[in-house]
Amino acid sequence: MDITSRYNDKISQYFEQMAPKGEPASLYEPINYLLMLGGKRIRPAMVLMSCELFEKDTDKALPAAYALEVFHNFTLMHDDIMDKATIRRGFPTVHEKYDLNTAILSGDAMLIYSYQILCGYEPAMAHKILKSFNKMAMELCEGQRLDMDFETSNIVSIDGYLKMIAFKTSVLLASAMEVGGIIGGGGESDLKHLYEFGKNIGIAFQIQDDLLDAFGDEKKVGKQPGGDIIQNKKTYLFLKAKELADPGQLEKLLFYYNVEPHDQHTKIKDVKHIFTKHLKFEFKIILRKM
Ligand code: IPE
Ligand code: IPE
Ligand code: MG
Ligand code: MG
Ligand code: MG
Repeated sequence: MDITSRYNDKISQYFEQMAPKGEPASLYEPINYLLMLGGKRIRPAMVLMSCELFEKDTDKALPAAYALEVFHNFTLMHDDIMDKATIRRGFPTVHEKYDLNTAILSGDAMLIYSYQILCGYEPAMAHKILKSFNKMAMELCEGQRLDMDFETSNIVSIDGYLKMIAFKTSVLLASAMEVGGIIGGGGESDLKHLYEFGKNIGIAFQIQDDLLDAFGDEKKVGKQPGGDIIQNKKTYLFLKAKELADPGQLEKLLFYYNVEPHDQHTKIKDVKHIFTKHLKFEFKIILRKM
């Protein structure tokens, strides 16, 4: 049993009870479609886990755990538009299954729903939670913007990549830890440490996500394999391979990432070949496990 699965039942029950309902169904159905596809639900587990460090009864952290997961799902709905992704959690993305406007508006409604839930805490607590949440949400947008800007840039550094993933991904895990701590009654210094812990986990999490995008088992990952390569994402894999490639491979890599290829399958195959050749040492252990 992994460390978060002990919260699964609690989270699932609460999620069912809180599923957004209303009219028009065309607004709410796509929200529930994505939420019901599940996912790992690590963010709500992190909220509960962090709360439990200070308070045995984690029930009062459930609304925040749920709100952060709704927010996460909102970011996925819009991220899939930005990344032109067709598959999420093994099923069509919302803009594919319904249409673009549906994914925009249902995503917006999810963002608002997450605020409505957080506003249910008593005012002093809600204020503390929202302070963390708002900072995180703005940084996440900054990270997403950088991620897209990098698609067309040839001068992305590894430090730039780390900053980008810290913002697009880690801050939400950091805030999940912080919010859980706030609800549990942790002190200022505890909260800072929890935030840093979540942030570091988040950086590792996104590097692993990038690795899975290229080399993961399609059935388990539930996304289009090589989606990051198609979108010219400046992942650690790409940046490190660019650093280590010989002149011929570098030329090939840059060509593929700057000129729209006729055949995406060949691009993915060739790029993955360059990745594996140069990253064998760094990722040998991880790749063997995938
Ligand atoms: C996907 O997050 C987006 C990233 C930040 C990499 P998850 O990998 O947690 O997605 P689900 O919720 O488990 O599907
Ligand atoms: C997603 O990063 C980060 C956010 C949704 C904010 P990715 O674009 O790598 O996530 P996946 O791979 O689509 O899940
Ligand atoms: Mg993205
Ligand atoms: Mg994406
Ligand atoms: Mg990804």
